[in-house]
Amino acid sequence: SYSSDRFVKIGASATYRPPIRVANMSVSIAILPVAGRGTRLLPLTKSQPKEMLPVGRKPVVQYVVEELALSGVRRLLFVTGPGKTAIENHFDIDVELIEHLRHTGKEDLLEELAFERQDIDFLYTRQRRQLGLGHAVLCGRPMVGDQPFVVALGDSFIGPTGDSRIVERMIDCFDGEGADAVIAFEQVPAAEVVHYGIAQPAGAVDGTHFVLSDVVEKPSAAAAPSDLAIAGRYVCSAKLFDYLKNTAPGKGNEIQFTDALRACIRDGGKVLGVRLLPGERRFDVGNFGSYFQAFLEMALRDPEYGEQVRNQISGLLDESHNA
Ligand code: G1P
Repeated sequence: SYSSDRFVKIGASATYRPPIRVANMSVSIAILPVAGRGTRLLPLTKSQPKEMLPVGRKPVVQYVVEELALSGVRRLLFVTGPGKTAIENHFDIDVELIEHLRHTGKEDLLEELAFERQDIDFLYTRQRRQLGLGHAVLCGRPMVGDQPFVVALGDSFIGPTGDSRIVERMIDCFDGEGADAVIAFEQVPAAEVVHYGIAQPAGAVDGTHFVLSDVVEKPSAAAAPSDLAIAGRYVCSAKLFDYLKNTAPGKGNEIQFTDALRACIRDGGKVLGVRLLPGERRFDVGNFGSYFQAFLEMALRDPEYGEQVRNQISGLLDESHNA
C-alpha cells in the first residue's frame, strides 16, 4: 500500500480520510474511459484533457476517482488516448514536489497532495482508434478479463458533495439481483433527452431499482421512451464485452455502449436501472453550459472562498439588474 511507501512521508497535517468500504466485493475494478477529444470544449481542450479541467479546486477526474474509492472500487483502469498524459501525472506520487514543499517551508500544502496516497491501483491502457465509448470500454477487456466491472465516465461525477455512494448501491443491486448490468439514471428535462442514453423501463420506477426493457442512445424528444438519462455509471458482467464485440457502429457512426446494453436486454439479459437519490446530481464537463454550472456550484461550496464568490455574484447580478 502507498501509505507504507518509505519514500513518502507526509506530515501529520495530512488528513485524508481513508474510504470506509473494504475490498472483498464482487466488483473491484472500474474502467474509466478518458480518451475522448473533448471537441465540444474547444479551444479549452486543444492541449489539455477535458478530464483535467478544474471544477472548483480539483480536476474533474479526481472527483471521479474519489467517488469510486468511497464505494470500495480500488483498481482503476483508465482508457486513455493522445494528449492525456496529464491524467497519469496527476495521480502519480510526486516525490520531488513533496520534497520541494517540505524544504521551502510549505508543509501545510502537503495536505493538498494527500489524495496521491489513496490505496488504489492505477492501470492504464490506450484506445488506439477513436471508435466511440463502446469501443473504449472494450479496450479494457484484456485487463479486466472475466470479472464484473464498473464503467465510470471520466468527465462526470455524482455530486454535489463528492460523497455519493451510487456505485456501491449499484454493486449491491448487481449482486443481490444477479443482474447482467445495472445502469445509473438521472431525470432530465425533455429538451435534453437528445444528449443522452435514455431508459425504457419495463414497469414502475419506484423502489431501489427498476427493470429495463430497452435503452436508446440519444433519441429525439418525440421518440424518447422516458426522461431518464444514463448518468455515466454502469456495473456490468463480463458478458457485456461479448455484446460490445458484436456491436456495429450506431449513432454518430460510433460503437455505442448503449447499443451493447440494448442487445443484452433483447437477448433476455437482466439489465436494471438505479436512480440518483434526491439531492444527488451529475456534474459533467462535456459542454460549456454544464462545465460552467459545475464550476460555479463547486466554487460556491468552497469552504474558504464560497462566501466571497456568493457576494461577488450577487453584486454582479444587482449591477446588471439596475443597469
Ligand atoms: C455518453 C453515453 C450516453 C450517456 C452520456 C452521459 O454520451 O453514450 O448514453 O447518457 O455519456 O453519461 P456522450 O456524453 O459521451 O456523448
